[in-house]
Amino acid sequence: MRIIFTDHYESMSEEAAKIIAAQLWLKPDSVLGLATGSTPVMLYQKLIHLYETVGLDFSQATSFNLDEYVGLSPNDEQSYHRFMHENLFDHVNIRNERIFFPDGLADDAAAEGMRYEKAIEAAGGIDLQLLGIGRNAHIGFNEPADCFTRTTHKVALKGNTIAANARFFASEKDVPREAMSMGIGTIFQARHILLLASGAEKAQAVKDTWEGTITPAVPASILQLHPHVTLIVDREAGSLLTAKGKELA
Ligand code: F6R
Repeated sequence: MRIIFTDHYESMSEEAAKIIAAQLWLKPDSVLGLATGSTPVMLYQKLIHLYETVGLDFSQATSFNLDEYVGLSPNDEQSYHRFMHENLFDHVNIRNERIFFPDGLADDAAAEGMRYEKAIEAAGGIDLQLLGIGRNAHIGFNEPADCFTRTTHKVALKGNTIAANARFFASEKDVPREAMSMGIGTIFQARHILLLASGAEKAQAVKDTWEGTITPAVPASILQLHPHVTLIVDREAGSLLTAKGKELA
């Protein structure tokens, strides 16, 4: 893992935008794995700015989102589908037929998981996977567990994840209890993984991920084994890293 230390959320977003822009410039038909949540919002704004000002081109790119809530239709205001359109897709020239999400309305979750895995494979695999991190070090919706999940699957959300995501809903009881999520194995197959963390509430998860034991109790810790991970932290998210952890960088 390579780690980039930045001062604050904006500089973290700036560094991440440079990496994604370089990916698209070097390989215009890149397959991107994208994330929702608060973390990538400013990064997406910066990508839109690059599209508007210097013609960053998404026309040949393909995107696969990490996850979607079970029971929400793509048009639902709280769906991740809608989030991505509002925060990125509607403002750049990515083509609709190259945008993929797990289907939160699928009757057969196992079949839907397989369909999503096959679609990623048919696209040639993910070149660059963007990730945020949960306070419990979840990635996608892969929560702390007894073993690392493999492929796209249905997951029951943990209480603290429901509580953390309640800010996007009218109340906590409106947060769906299940989601479809890429598995850790799906994420791990990406050629390059870009993990972003901002804010003091992510500091422990960053420390455990970067310096801790590799264990499914800390889902992101598996990334220590991946050959090409870039972790970008702001000052607060990197604040618990020890001198040893910093040396590893
Ligand atoms: C989002 C996702 C989640 C978030 C994580 C952090 O698609 O899969 O793993 O990246 O929950 O969320 P924020 O960025 O809101 O702190």
